Amino acid sequence: MKRLAVLGHPVGHSRSPAMHGAALAELGLAGEWSYEALDLAPDEFERRARAMPGEGFVGANVTVPHKSAALALADTLSETSREIGAANTLSFDSGEIRADNTDAAGFLAALPAAPGGERALVLGAGGAARAVSWALLREGAEVEVWNRTELRSRHLCEELGGAPVSAPDPGGYDLIVNTTSVGLADEDPFAELPLTARGFGPGQTVVDLVYGDGPTRLLAAAAAAGAATVDGIEILVRQGALSLEVWTGREAPLDTMRAAARR
Ligand code: ATR
Repeated sequence: MKRLAVLGHPVGHSRSPAMHGAALAELGLAGEWSYEALDLAPDEFERRARAMPGEGFVGANVTVPHKSAALALADTLSETSREIGAANTLSFDSGEIRADNTDAAGFLAALPAAPGGERALVLGAGGAARAVSWALLREGAEVEVWNRTELRSRHLCEELGGAPVSAPDPGGYDLIVNTTSVGLADEDPFAELPLTARGFGPGQTVVDLVYGDGPTRLLAAAAAAGAATVDGIEILVRQGALSLEVWTGREAPLDTMRAAARR
């Protein structure tokens, strides 16, 4: 059996085993490959990850809070993961650990249109914000980054590009991406983030990496105002599909993965 797993925190990976399990079944690989969830505390990560190849694991997804530890652990890094400074995909092959980042390409694949030339606002400055900003900048978008702790957005822009912004005009963007954790615990996005529901409108795309059982308050307000929306489950599906392609070399069955992730 070729084992795959997601390493992380229960909140971040509850849908991944079902999503990948459905994909493996659809590809006819269910007898040969398996996918499970492993909950790990940060101080267990390195020891556990290094033991995995010996236990039959060939790959792993890595979620919060292990994405920079995953990068540090790897013997070889894809250019994308090195530039972003985080890895969400590990491959164990012939005694080597390889790190990839499929969050950036997964984010781009989830957008309704290529973002080149668009004005984009990224909210947050953690690992997810780094992947999103890197992807948007590479596609030629004009990126501004807002973060509650301004030092972190300044630091992100110094490293990756884009411009830190402290008081964005929410109406002034083609694309708004929430990469903060606001909304996970049902916080009011309009109290915590520099956004107003009236700032949204047709012609805009609003992306929320946070997901739950229904639309987040942020996406509900954006949709009500006529903006296009992309939710965190679509982003999860897209990064998962690309990880599956890294491990199996097969084209991932997107519809099957999406249906399983939304169930
Ligand atoms: P990740 O790697 O998933 O992006 P992270 O590094 O923990 O995770 O970042 C979480 C993000 O959510 C940060 O940008 C954080 O802002 P700070 O840098 O100021 O901590 C943001 N965040 C969390 N709670 C928030 C809140 N109530 N209001 C605004 N931003 C918040």
